[in-house]
Amino acid sequence: MAATCTFQYLLFSLLVSLLVVEGKVPEPCTRYECPTYDVVQVEKDYEIRRYNSPVWISTDPIQDTSVVPATVTGVKRLFSYINGNNNESKEIKMAAPVATEVSVSGGKSSFVVSFYLPKVNQANPPSANGVNVQRWKTKYAAVREFGGFVTESVVANQVAALNASIAGTKWSSKVPKSYTVAQYNSPFELINRVNEIWFLYDYED
Ligand SMILES: *[C@@H]1O[C@H](CO)[C@@H](O)[C@H](O)[C@H]1NC(C)=O
Ligand SMILES: *[C@@H]1O[C@H](CO)[C@@H](O)[C@H](O)[C@H]1NC(C)=O
Repeated sequence: MAATCTFQYLLFSLLVSLLVVEGKVPEPCTRYECPTYDVVQVEKDYEIRRYNSPVWISTDPIQDTSVVPATVTGVKRLFSYINGNNNESKEIKMAAPVATEVSVSGGKSSFVVSFYLPKVNQANPPSANGVNVQRWKTKYAAVREFGGFVTESVVANQVAALNASIAGTKWSSKVPKSYTVAQYNSPFELINRVNEIWFLYDYED
């Protein structure tokens, strides 16, 4: 009897391990609400996620030379929005991450900064000048995690490293023209900071 149970348990565990790829959730997501995703592939230096239709509040494109000041500008605008500077004077809880999409075209950079919107606010977010609601359909992301504070040179190195990691895989044939820097901690948290570079794709194949 016990032997049968053990066997069934092992079989069950095996089936579960075949179905679920182990990825670790960013630690700040135990304290802030974060978008949910399935991890579809784990590699040594990156993982592939499938995001489950998250909703974001995003700035209009910000023209700047660097990701750091552009993110500061965007975060100020979005903090004001979640603190009630919107058409319903509604306060919204801070969630994570703060995502800065970086697009380079003709040598000029443009940045869209986004806050993930908590589930409770996703159906009817208030409106405000200069911000837009972004509703993702299913999206795939190649993700590389790194710690510390985000700087221009760190981002350049991490983007190059992710690009190198996916070289030769099916994800490299369609590397997007933009990339996203996701930051999960407030500037006041000095240790154990979690950041990620995302290359986003609409389809797996
Ligand atoms: C605020 O904007 C939202 C989204 O555009 C809209 O649905 C809502 O009716 C507006 N509320 C007010 C009080 O104008
Ligand atoms: C990304 O890697 C490809 C080779 O897979 C290379 O051709 C391309 O220049 C790289 N792009 C960046 C931004 O590093």
